[in-house]
Amino acid sequence: GGTAPPTPLSLGFNAVAKSLADVVTVPAGYTATVLYALGDPLDTATPEFKNDGTDTSFETRAGDHHDGIEWFGLSAAGTRSASASDRGLLAMNHEAITDQFLHANGVTANPRPAAEADKEMAAHGISVVEVRRTNGRYAYARDSALNRRITPLTPMQMSGPVRGHALLKTKYSAAGTDTRGTINNCGASTTPWGTYFSGEENWVNYFTRASTDDAARGGNTAKSVVSLSRYGKAQGAASRHGWETAGIADAYARWNVSQAGTSTDGTDDYRNEMNTFGWMVEVDPYEPAVAARKRTALGRFAHEMGVFGVPQAGKPLAVYMGDDSRGEYIYKFVSTANWDANDANAANRMATGDKYLDSGRLYAAKFNADGTGQWIELTIANSTIASYAAYRFADQADVLVNARLAADAVGATKMDRPEWSAVHPVTGEVYVTLTNNGNRKVEPSASSQQALDAANPRSYTDAPTAATAPGNINGHIIRFRDSEPGATAFSWDIYLFGAESGMDAAKVNLSGLSGDRDFSSPDGVRFSAKTGLLYIETDDGAYTDVTNCMLLIAKPGQVGDGATQSIEYTKADGSKLTVQTRVGAKPTAANLRRFLVGPKDCEITGITETPDGRALIVNIQHPGETIAKANIADPSRFLSHWPANAGYGAGGANGRPRSATIVITRNDGGLIGADGTAVL
Ligand code: FEO
Ligand code: CA
Ligand code: CA
Ligand code: CA
Repeated sequence: GGTAPPTPLSLGFNAVAKSLADVVTVPAGYTATVLYALGDPLDTATPEFKNDGTDTSFETRAGDHHDGIEWFGLSAAGTRSASASDRGLLAMNHEAITDQFLHANGVTANPRPAAEADKEMAAHGISVVEVRRTNGRYAYARDSALNRRITPLTPMQMSGPVRGHALLKTKYSAAGTDTRGTINNCGASTTPWGTYFSGEENWVNYFTRASTDDAARGGNTAKSVVSLSRYGKAQGAASRHGWETAGIADAYARWNVSQAGTSTDGTDDYRNEMNTFGWMVEVDPYEPAVAARKRTALGRFAHEMGVFGVPQAGKPLAVYMGDDSRGEYIYKFVSTANWDANDANAANRMATGDKYLDSGRLYAAKFNADGTGQWIELTIANSTIASYAAYRFADQADVLVNARLAADAVGATKMDRPEWSAVHPVTGEVYVTLTNNGNRKVEPSASSQQALDAANPRSYTDAPTAATAPGNINGHIIRFRDSEPGATAFSWDIYLFGAESGMDAAKVNLSGLSGDRDFSSPDGVRFSAKTGLLYIETDDGAYTDVTNCMLLIAKPGQVGDGATQSIEYTKADGSKLTVQTRVGAKPTAANLRRFLVGPKDCEITGITETPDGRALIVNIQHPGETIAKANIADPSRFLSHWPANAGYGAGGANGRPRSATIVITRNDGGLIGADGTAVL
């Protein structure tokens, strides 16, 4: 007979209280230290960061808005060692920027000075930075030859089924095979062969499109216009930072995707530039000379991140992915190649990525009210997709570029903003955060709004009438079980509902959260590979009058451990609407506690751990991001001074706030969050 699977450890720390203080708070017996903050130099030639807006050279400094982060162990010889915890590379996303603080006097309006645009572009992308543990303390190694930055200008390859397709042809790559850089990278994971896997999320916002562009493209029924509209780029929409106004050079012009040239194939302008963004990006942190690849087989949308199912020898690999926008979908990619465990240590990691990620099937999830669900394949071979009236797909590459439209065609379930996904290391069940959705309505009155359903069953209001319902403002975490990686049916329930502890238990606080574990807007999630415990991070705007964003640690059960529950709503005319959903076992102090609260006006984003489970590495994103240009000279108007106020870098109590990576260790050297020493 076999042995029972190992069970996760139990929680072994005292919950921390909600807090509005401008500090990082962790439980008694733990220490949090700052490791790597915006502007930190990545070589010895780049000057120390002055943090006054005069710094330049972000190509060799830490970028801004630290997000998804992963640990890649290094041997003493500086090569890959998956189990190493004393020395490693951190790869991390720099999702966005707090632009006012990057400049001495804040942001200059359009037309943007090129020097400002150059800094802002370079502060986006990805960092690879070496970290070492010496006498129990972690620090980054400024002099490591493996340190590097990837920015929106770094050359990359398009890979997979869409490579070379007409939809990818630009002035930069007439062959449709190459692109420059990555932007708005949000969550991250590690592939089973040891590369970094990063999602391109809100890339749409960085582009502008002329107010006459629909006509230039053949009118608002032209395929490219339907596609641009579905991905949120209406004609006349402004870009987030106005970089296209900074000069005529290609590096600026590319942010304007208007059809300006006379070619039929788009090789004389940037009309197709948006099609080179919105992908999963694979980076080999150990090989600075190997170009990153955008894996087009996994579809194009606002990728929060992608997480691999537990690899099973001889079976395909599954990758679970959320599209973070209101009413968007959850996707699964299933590789054509079956997993060969020897590939976990393959010498050529990017070629291994080609093997597993360039060929496969893409699916969108449909959640049924009875707790079952289907993965619906997005293939041109499906007549529902091939004959879709709203958009005539030309071929499978067109389906992948316009995955949202294909998922519309098959009637996938519109979710409450799918953010991160995490896979339970023992059960293999998949947890997806649905952070919030102001468009989830009791009585939808616009096409942008979604009706309640079993998987998205909540639209909160103090007095539930349709007119005032603000939607699902606190978010929830859904989970599902695939019987195997390629399964097309699954079972699901809702593991946890975010809520304020004092809210109505019948309509809002459906998980019965008490004050030591109440939270709002779950975003980052990750299971510890060592303890099996679940980390939950928040990015909230609904509860921040009471507490800064936070990190909780949980020991979840499994799909179906709770009960069916009905939620009754009152419509505007006084009639009732009852929504039935499936809620997991309500958490107790034994299996859900608040572990960390961040500084003011931040979100808690990326999370990783050292392989020994004794250091938790967390990103604190955009503390004090709310700042007007008029207040940039007055530190008393800054909402946060962290981490300068914690003694890190320049500025002290008056310092400009900085996104930063922190490392959390237990003072007794034990496993993070756990009450024991046995491991999975
Ligand atoms: Fe970048 Fe969906 O958070
Ligand atoms: Ca963010
Ligand atoms: Ca996020
Ligand atoms: Ca978020």
